[in-house]
Amino acid sequence: MEAPAIFLLLLLIVLSIVLTGKSLIYPRRNAIPRTYPVIGCLISFYTNRNRLLDWYTELLTESPSGTVVIHRLAARRTVVTANPSNVEYILRTNFDNFPKGKPFTDILGDFLGDGIFNVDGNLWLKQRRLAAHDFTPKSLREYVTVLRDEVENELLPFLEDAAAQDSLPFDLHELLRRFTFNIVCIVFLGIDHRCSLNPSSPVSEFDRAFQTASAVSAGRGSAPVSFVWKLKRMVGFGSEKDLRNAVGEVRRCVDEIIQENKKKRKSSANRDFLSRLIASGESDETVRDMVISIVMAGRDTTSAVITRLFWIIPGHEETEHDLVSEIRSERTGGLDYESLKKLSLLKACLCEVMRLYPPVPWDSKHALTDDRLPDGTVVRAGDRVTYFPYGMGRMEELWGKDCDEFKPNRWVESKTTRVLKKVNPFKFPVFQAGPRVCLGEEMAYVQMKYVVASMLDRFEIEPIATDKPVFVPMLTAHMAGGMQVRVSRRDGSRVKRPSELHFFSKSQQQQ
Ligand code: HEM
Repeated sequence: MEAPAIFLLLLLIVLSIVLTGKSLIYPRRNAIPRTYPVIGCLISFYTNRNRLLDWYTELLTESPSGTVVIHRLAARRTVVTANPSNVEYILRTNFDNFPKGKPFTDILGDFLGDGIFNVDGNLWLKQRRLAAHDFTPKSLREYVTVLRDEVENELLPFLEDAAAQDSLPFDLHELLRRFTFNIVCIVFLGIDHRCSLNPSSPVSEFDRAFQTASAVSAGRGSAPVSFVWKLKRMVGFGSEKDLRNAVGEVRRCVDEIIQENKKKRKSSANRDFLSRLIASGESDETVRDMVISIVMAGRDTTSAVITRLFWIIPGHEETEHDLVSEIRSERTGGLDYESLKKLSLLKACLCEVMRLYPPVPWDSKHALTDDRLPDGTVVRAGDRVTYFPYGMGRMEELWGKDCDEFKPNRWVESKTTRVLKKVNPFKFPVFQAGPRVCLGEEMAYVQMKYVVASMLDRFEIEPIATDKPVFVPMLTAHMAGGMQVRVSRRDGSRVKRPSELHFFSKSQQQQ
């Protein structure tokens, strides 16, 4: 935390003590977390600020209803729940009373504007209907063709190079992040804005600005006191200045892409998402905001899940062996939309990774009117109401005593048939659930299966660090610092000679 923020925080605490005298010393009875008059749980919150996911999980484990109410000085009353009945009530039964709300859209508004992620009501519904065209089975079949091209011509050759240089580690998360960014650009924007896959080469300005804007916006959401970032924004200082510059750059790049697309449309009929958006007659600003939301949705989520899977798998030899057998039996004629559906153990593994490490670990709505959740928790108009997939994946009542362990078979009816179980989406809301469920859920599975199957079939991936990586909740959560790995050919077959390689520079090869 920066010095002015600490100063303001201390000032608030001192003021509270002066105003309330002794009563500050006595916590409210039975409150989880420990809560004091005026400052609420600010002290615990501040102490746990770097491990909020685990702190909330601990609090929810202690709570008999799986719900806690957080009172904190200078923050709105927040209800956090890991109770599936409550989640269903918020996300479906009484959906209209729990929009994202202004406090949420204020945090992301500078970056996402009026894009689908950041709006409610008619503005949201209209965008959802427009975007839904890109997620039909027909679009997904076309999507597999793009994936095939990119995997065969870019990703696998990179890994081939890396395997030939078997002592040369690289950051797998960064590689996959760049790969998914390229895919989003091709599929949704119709541009080959290719960013080099080599994790140690510079990223494009567009990508860099996107990363900065996401990181600062996420920081706003988890700040102990919101007026600090608001003040910094007002005076254009520190991280807020970086955000302003990054958003300017993102918008400049997207505007350029829109103009290029308009020029191309005069000569040929494009059918990508962006072309349809433009054809729908929306203003350039609305189109720009929608594009930014879609790029954000498709960019970071899947790469984080795949990376985590490759961190877990080497510790589960039997699962790795079964996965390779499943993949090899299905990919005989090459992977397509139909054969991907049959990879049920792989899907079970992906679900298990997301149960423990959901890319969107928490998500908040804001109550329009007073309400009461099914477990009896009172909600007041204006409260923040957070459903919490990260904590839900770690609740013994929901997943059993072995809830902390990676056990993909919990997702199948039987080990032999591997028919996937139907799981209540409100118990596993990693893609949200109800009317606002993730539009890209099926696309995400198609992509993750295609990439993991192609990689596992040919390569063994070995993470270098043995320490458990820290899971950081930015706009989408991922491992802090990426994940360095070495890669080798699974069947030990010949790899290309260095003269045939093109991804690693000479200096990197010599390192
Ligand atoms: C593992 C991968 C993914 C996960 C876990 C995931 C999860 C989520 C979640 C939790 C939401 C709700 C967010 C909110 O309302 O605040 C969401 C919304 C959305 N996701 Fe995904 N997502 C994934 C991949 C994708 C992909 C690849 C796309 C495609 C571009 C995509 C497109 C969208 C869109 C358009 C929405 C907005 C839906 C709406 O508000 O109506 N997602 N996703």
